[in-house]
Amino acid sequence: MVASPQRLGLTAFHYLEEMSLRWLADLLQLPAGMQGIYTSGGSVANIVALGAARQSAFERLGEDPARQGVSLPCRIFASAAAHHTVYRAAAVLGMGRDSVVPIALDGAGRMCPEDLRRRLADCDPSAVKVAIVANAGSTDTGAIDPLQAIGCIAREHNLWLHVDGAYGLPGILDPTCATLYTGLRLADSTCVDPHKWLGAPVGVGAAFVRDRALLQRAFTQEAADYLEGTCSQTTAMHSLDSLGLPYADWGLELSAPSRGVVVWALIREIGKRGLAQRVCRHNAMARRVADRARQGPRLELVLEPTLSICCFRYRDSRWKDLNQLNRQIHRQLIHSGVNMPSTTTVNGKLVLRPCFIGARALWEQADSLVDEVLWIGDRIAGKSTTVTRGELI
Ligand SMILES: Cc1ncc(COP(=O)(O)O)c(C=O)c1O
Repeated sequence: MVASPQRLGLTAFHYLEEMSLRWLADLLQLPAGMQGIYTSGGSVANIVALGAARQSAFERLGEDPARQGVSLPCRIFASAAAHHTVYRAAAVLGMGRDSVVPIALDGAGRMCPEDLRRRLADCDPSAVKVAIVANAGSTDTGAIDPLQAIGCIAREHNLWLHVDGAYGLPGILDPTCATLYTGLRLADSTCVDPHKWLGAPVGVGAAFVRDRALLQRAFTQEAADYLEGTCSQTTAMHSLDSLGLPYADWGLELSAPSRGVVVWALIREIGKRGLAQRVCRHNAMARRVADRARQGPRLELVLEPTLSICCFRYRDSRWKDLNQLNRQIHRQLIHSGVNMPSTTTVNGKLVLRPCFIGARALWEQADSLVDEVLWIGDRIAGKSTTVTRGELI
């Protein structure tokens, strides 16, 4: 529990930011003491986290990359399924996109610890190893990397571990998969997007690190005449005095909306139990799609779901190019506007990729999607079968 704003000397704005960040950390069972800042989303959260990793790696060499830039080539060891904003973060932070070393995936889309070990051993000795980036819910398939094994490797190599949970961190609320997050306790930074699975409006992400002082050194805008006195801790002469917490020095934004009030309101209204129920329902919807895809000859389950994403496709033995067929089905789905999954590629197969995260995504929609895929697929493949609701079960 956070003490009252008056006792902490915080404005209502800072009080709500701080309290809701604490609530988020508790909700998502982050390592004790992790401290957060809000961002506009996962893209910026990844920049913030990797900025902290870069600062930490170079400070250990006696350098300040925030002031001097990076003097040596860098390496970031990231799951081959890392979100592409990790590459952009490396570029923006002056390390370059080429500093990202993709680590091979296993058949279930998870980072292979053995390949990580190999890549670390093969790393150019003159390069600075900045971080390992693992997924807690990859964008393509929802795979959760073996965080415990990866965290142990990070510790052995004294390396920063960033866990990108922009989409998947709330999955920890589902008891059926909570143990997959055990290694989160070894993370040095993580991020989550309340605007994804937690139902906040777009523009609300959060990054967490173990020590925000590191963020201050990485991202401070430094003193400026136009800011002088506005944050005096001693003399409350100006309405902006004693603001307390320098959020503007911990991330990339100075002017920023109050994201804390949004997260505070949604957790206050729905509560942990309500959010957990929603996450469990969405995961069950992905499993429902998987069950139907597994049973019927006209569908193929391409990957067992881990969270609320299910990768499956329509199939027809007479059709040579199933990627093309499924692309056509996808176009028609989007055109009809009832069920609108996205697509991705898994082991060379173009798949339909429903990702159930919407607060209003209801159980029936899992069947509705499968029915529509069958109906459209049959029509394109020239089959005259009719699809009845929930068929094959
Ligand atoms: C795992 C992951 N990381 C980062 C991002 C980027 O997040 P945003 O769109 O909020 O910037 C996404 C977006 O889908 C994501 O799935």
